[in-house]
Amino acid sequence: MGRLMLRHLKLGAFLYPTGYHVAAWRHPDVPAGSGTEFGFYAGLAHAAEEAGFDFLFLPDSQAIRGDDMAALSRTAIRYVAQFEPLTLLSGLAAITSRIGLIASISTTYFHPYHVARMMSSLDHLSHGRAGWNLVTSQNKYEAFNFGENPHPSHAERYDRAEEFVDVVRGLWDSWSEDAFVCDKKTGIFFDPGGVRQLKHYGRHFAVRGPLNLPRSPQGHPVICQAGSSTAGRRLAARTADVVFTAQDNLGDAKAFYADVKASAASMGRREGTPLILAGVCPYIGVTRAEAQSKLDQLHDLVHPDAGISLLEGQLGEVDLSGHPVDGPLPPIPETDAGRSRRDLLVATSRREGLTIRHLYLRTASGRGHLEVIGTPVEVADTMEEWFSEGAADGFNIMAPILPGGFTDFTELVVPELSRRGLLGAGEAAPMLRERLGLAPAPPRR
Ligand SMILES: Cc1cc2nc3c(=O)[nH]c(=O)nc-3n(C[C@H](O)[C@H](O)[C@H](O)COP(=O)(O)O)c2cc1C
Repeated sequence: MGRLMLRHLKLGAFLYPTGYHVAAWRHPDVPAGSGTEFGFYAGLAHAAEEAGFDFLFLPDSQAIRGDDMAALSRTAIRYVAQFEPLTLLSGLAAITSRIGLIASISTTYFHPYHVARMMSSLDHLSHGRAGWNLVTSQNKYEAFNFGENPHPSHAERYDRAEEFVDVVRGLWDSWSEDAFVCDKKTGIFFDPGGVRQLKHYGRHFAVRGPLNLPRSPQGHPVICQAGSSTAGRRLAARTADVVFTAQDNLGDAKAFYADVKASAASMGRREGTPLILAGVCPYIGVTRAEAQSKLDQLHDLVHPDAGISLLEGQLGEVDLSGHPVDGPLPPIPETDAGRSRRDLLVATSRREGLTIRHLYLRTASGRGHLEVIGTPVEVADTMEEWFSEGAADGFNIMAPILPGGFTDFTELVVPELSRRGLLGAGEAAPMLRERLGLAPAPPRR
C-alpha cells in the first residue's frame, strides 16, 4: 500500500515584546511595558496554544542593539527591555501543556555546556517541548558586555558555531535513557555504566562532561538555525532540524528552500530535513483597504531617527547620515555583521527603486520578511502558495502589534488555513520533535 504523505504547514509565534513593527509600542492598543510583564506573555502563550500553533519563539540578544541612545529611546524592540528568554520560557512551560518553546541562544557569547544544560533543563521542565534557535550574534554590541575582546569576524563566529553544536549534542548524549535506576534497596542511584564523559578537546572548546542532568525527554531538544549566508546555510544543512529565514519574494524563497534541502540531502540527512520556516508579517483587515490602513497607522508613528537607526543596524551598522532620506540607498559595503539580511535589503531597494525613507519604513514593519497586507483569504492564499510551491514548510508569524495583531491572525486566518486542510497534523503529539514531524533524536553512540 502506498504511503500517504500529508504535509501540513507549521506555525510559530515570533514574540517581540510589543509586536514586530518598530512603532508598535506607540499604538493605542498596545501595552507599552509588556516586555517585562509575565501576564502578557502568558496570555499570548495560551492564545497560541489554543489556536494550534506549534511553538512560541523568543528572539534574544545579550545587549541593546546600538549605541545611539537618542534614537534607541524611540523603540521598544531593539533588546532595550525584555526578559532573558529561557527564564521566561520556564515560566510559560508551567502554564502550557502542548505548545513548543523555542528561544535564541548565541554560540558566540555562551559556552556549550551552558546551552546543553539550560536546554536540557527546559526539555525536562516542559516534558519534551524545548527548542534552541542557534544564532551566531550579528549584534556587535554584545562584545562590550563580555570583556575586552572585539566581536569575532563572521567566519570565526560560524567556525565556533560548528564546533559548539557538536559539543552540545555530545553532552546531550552523556547518559543512557535508563541510567538513573534509583534503586533504594541496593543504594545505587545511577548506573555508572550508563554515563559517558564527552572528552571534547577542539579548537574552541575543551569540555570533559558528562552533563549533570539525565537524558531529557526529547533526547535532543529541537535545533533551529537562523542565519542564511553561505556559512549559515552550511551549518543549517549539517545540523539544523528547522531553519528560520527572512525572504521577501517567492522566487528567492524557493531558491533558498531548494538550496538548503539539497545541501542537507547531500550530507545524508533524512528527506525533507531541515524544515524551512519563513517569517511573515501579516496586516489583516475585512477589506484590503482596512489592512493597509493598519500598516499606514503604524508607519505614521515611526520617528525618522528611529527608522534610520534601525535600517543602519540591519545593513550592518552603516552610517547613512550624509545621505538625503528621499534619495536612493548609497552603495553599502560588506560588513562583518549579518550577511543575508543586508544583501536582501540592498537587493529589494534596487529592485523596487526604494528611497532610504521607503526602505526604513519597509524595515520598520518587516525587516526583510514577507509582508502580507489583505483580507484573511488573501493572507491565507499567499501562505498556501508559498507552502505548496516549495518555498516554505511553515511560517513564523510576526504580528505587527501584540496582542491585537496576533488575535487577528488566530481568529481570522487560522480558521481559513484550517478549512483548507493545511493545519493540525501534530497537535496530539506530546513532544515538539514529533509535533513537527521530525525524526527522533539520533541514537546515543
Ligand atoms: C526568524 C529569525 C529570527 C532570528 N532571531 C535572532 C535572534 O533572536 N538573535 C540574534 O542574534 N539573531 C537572530 N536572527 C539573525 C540570525 O541569527 C543571523 O545572525 C542573521 O540572519 C545573519 O546571519 P548570516 O550572516 O548567516 O546571514 C534571526 C533571524 C531570523 C531569520
